[in-house]
Amino acid sequence: MSLQVIERIFELFHQRGTEQYGSEAVTQLQHAIQAAILAQREQAESHLVAAALLHDVGHILGNSPLPDHESQNFDDHHENRAYPWLLEHFGKAVADPVRLHVAAKRYLCTVEPEYAAKLSPTSLKSYFDQGGPMSVTEQIAFEQEEFYSQALRLRRWDDRAKDPSVELPSIESFGDLLRGITTA
Ligand SMILES: [Fe+2]
Repeated sequence: MSLQVIERIFELFHQRGTEQYGSEAVTQLQHAIQAAILAQREQAESHLVAAALLHDVGHILGNSPLPDHESQNFDDHHENRAYPWLLEHFGKAVADPVRLHVAAKRYLCTVEPEYAAKLSPTSLKSYFDQGGPMSVTEQIAFEQEEFYSQALRLRRWDDRAKDPSVELPSIESFGDLLRGITTA
């Protein structure tokens, strides 16, 4: 991974990562770092840690902040907005779990009712805006994705990475890990 791209990522997070993560209690930057730390704690390999760190980069690549009001539509397709850029610079093993992390929520809500019960109000609201329960056809298509199990793991870190009291390292501390990612 080129230094230029990594610097661009850090710059983006410093410029726009201070925005709140929707109506959650953490900023985009805190949310991203916390998701990556959870991935590392579960011994995820480096592509998946990078995916956790960058899973919402689509929110800050685009120019509108996440909606912070219940009446707004929470589906901004951020998982697709980031995809071409992540694919080009990080390859499928990073880009695909990110692309699938919204579908992973719909999948888990559909197959695991107790999962839906634990979602934050913001996340539950966006679930319905993003399409709600999956049909059987959609579930099968999701299970056939090469990176579907990685997307499920990423999703669970995403859901937990909303604790404002956790002390976090700087985003720069992920520089070496990002530099080591190859697109192959
Ligand atoms: Fe997220």
